[in-house]
Amino acid sequence: MLSANMVALAYLAASILIIMALKGLSSPESARRGNTFGMLGMGIAALVTLQLDAVQNYAWIVVAVAVGGIIGGVAARKVPMTHMPQTVAFMHSLVGLAAVLIAVSALYDPQAYGIADADGGLHLASRIELFLGTFIGAITFTASLIAFGKLQALLSGRPLVFSGQHWLNLILGTAMIVAGILFCITQAWLPFLVMLAIALVLGVLLIVPIGGADMPVIVSMLNSYSGWAAAGIGFTLGNNMLIIAGALVGSSGAILSYIMCKAMNRSLINVLLGGFGGEAASGGAAQATGDRPVKAGAAEDAAFLIKNSRSVVIVPGYGLAVARAQHALKEMVDALLAQGVDVKFAIHPVAGRMPGHMNVLLAEADVPYDIVHEMDEINSEFSDTDVALVIGANDVTNPAAKSDPASPIYGMPILDVGKAEHVIVIKRSLAPGYAGLDNDLFYMDKTMMLFDDAKKACEAILQAL
Ligand code: TAP
Repeated sequence: MLSANMVALAYLAASILIIMALKGLSSPESARRGNTFGMLGMGIAALVTLQLDAVQNYAWIVVAVAVGGIIGGVAARKVPMTHMPQTVAFMHSLVGLAAVLIAVSALYDPQAYGIADADGGLHLASRIELFLGTFIGAITFTASLIAFGKLQALLSGRPLVFSGQHWLNLILGTAMIVAGILFCITQAWLPFLVMLAIALVLGVLLIVPIGGADMPVIVSMLNSYSGWAAAGIGFTLGNNMLIIAGALVGSSGAILSYIMCKAMNRSLINVLLGGFGGEAASGGAAQATGDRPVKAGAAEDAAFLIKNSRSVVIVPGYGLAVARAQHALKEMVDALLAQGVDVKFAIHPVAGRMPGHMNVLLAEADVPYDIVHEMDEINSEFSDTDVALVIGANDVTNPAAKSDPASPIYGMPILDVGKAEHVIVIKRSLAPGYAGLDNDLFYMDKTMMLFDDAKKACEAILQAL
C-alpha cells in the first residue's frame, strides 16, 4: 500500500507522461513515442489506483478488465482504418456512460465513495460535481451513439432539421439546469433522474441536425466533452489523476475542434447549429452531370508525364485510404526520386475522414517526413510545379470553394492543384466526394483523369516507370 504522498507523486509522474504523450502526438515523427508515453502514464495511473484503500473487490475488476480488454483488443485488430472515426465516436459514448454510471452509484452510496457528510448525505460541492459530471456524460453518451450511427451509415447522415428546433433545445436545456439545481438543493432522486433523462434526449437532439461534412468537428467536440465528463467525475471520486487527464482530453479536444473549424472555414457555433453537409453523408446526392468532356488517360501516359517532370506534388485523399494504396505509392515515389524527380506531398487538414488520416497512412508506408508538407507550407508552390498528382482526393481540391459563393464548401481553403502545369487525377469515376459536389478540376484542359483504383493505378504507373 503506497502512502498518500507516494500516490500523489505517482499520479504527478503519470500526468507528466500524459502531457508528453499529447506533445508527441502532435507530429507523425514523434507520435509512436507519444503513444508509448501515454501507455506508460495510463499504466502507472491504473496500477496506483488499483492499490488504493477504496478498491476492495478485485474479482469484479479482473472480470471487467478481461471482458473489456478482449473486446477492445479484437476490435482494434479488426476495425479498418477507414472506420476509425466511428470507432472513436463509439469509445466516447462509453466514457460518457461510465461518467453517468459512476455518478448514479455515488449518489446511491456516497459512503462507499468517501463523499458522505456526517448524516450520510452529500456535501453541496459533491452534488454540484455530480450534476455537472452526469449531464455532460449523458449528453456525450447519446450524442456519440448518434454520431456513431451516422458515420457507420446505420442512420441517415442527412441533417434532421425542424422548425422550433433551437427553441426546443433551449427549453430542454433550461429544464435540465432547473432540475439540476433542484437536485443540488434537495439531493433527491427525482430531479436527478429528470435531469439525466433530459440530458440523454438533448444529446440526441444536438446531433441530429448536423450533416455529414461537419461530423469530424463533432467527433472531436465529443472527445472534448468526454474529457470534461471524466474530469467532473474525478472531482466526485477525489481523484487528481482523473481530473488532470480529463481536463487534458477536454482542452485538447476543444483545440482540435477549433483547428478543424478553421481548416473548413466554419465557425463552431455554425457547426453546432447544424445543417451543412447533408448531401454528403447521404452518399453524395449531386452526381457529376456526365455530359461535360474530360480527358482520360492510361497509367503509361501518367508515367510518361511525371517521369519527364522536374517537380511533382502528390495530393492524397480518402480514396488512397480506401484502396490501401500507400505502400504501392511509396514504391512509385521511390522510383521517381531515384530518377531525380523532386517529389513532395501536400496534405490538406481535412483530407480523408479523420484528423491526420493522410499523415498516418504515409507514415505507415515509411514516406520520409521531410517531403510531406501541410497545406499552408506548400500551396504557394503549385504554380512552380510541373505535375500535381491527385490520388483519391476530391473535395480538398475543388475550386468551387474559392469561386462559387453558392457552393456549400465556399470559403473552405483548398489545395491549389489547378495552378500546376499539369494535373493528373486518379480515381475510379467522376463520382463526387464526401461533400457530394461535382469538381471543376476534373474538366480543366490541363487535367488528365486516370480512372482506376488508386492501388492498381500506382502499381501500373510504377510498372510503366
Ligand atoms: P473526398 O472528397 O471524400 O473524395 C474521395 C474520392 O476518393 C472520391 O471522390 C472517390 O471517387 C475516390 N475513391 C474512393 N475509393 C477509391 C479507390 N479505391 N481508388 C481511387 N479513388 C477512390 O476525399 P478528400 O478529398 O480526402 O476530402 C475529404 C472530405 O471528407 C472533405 O469533404 C472533408 O470535410 C470530409 N471529412 C473529413 C474528415 C477529416 S477530419 N479529415 C472527416 C470526415 C469527413 P471514386 O468513387 O470516383 O473513386
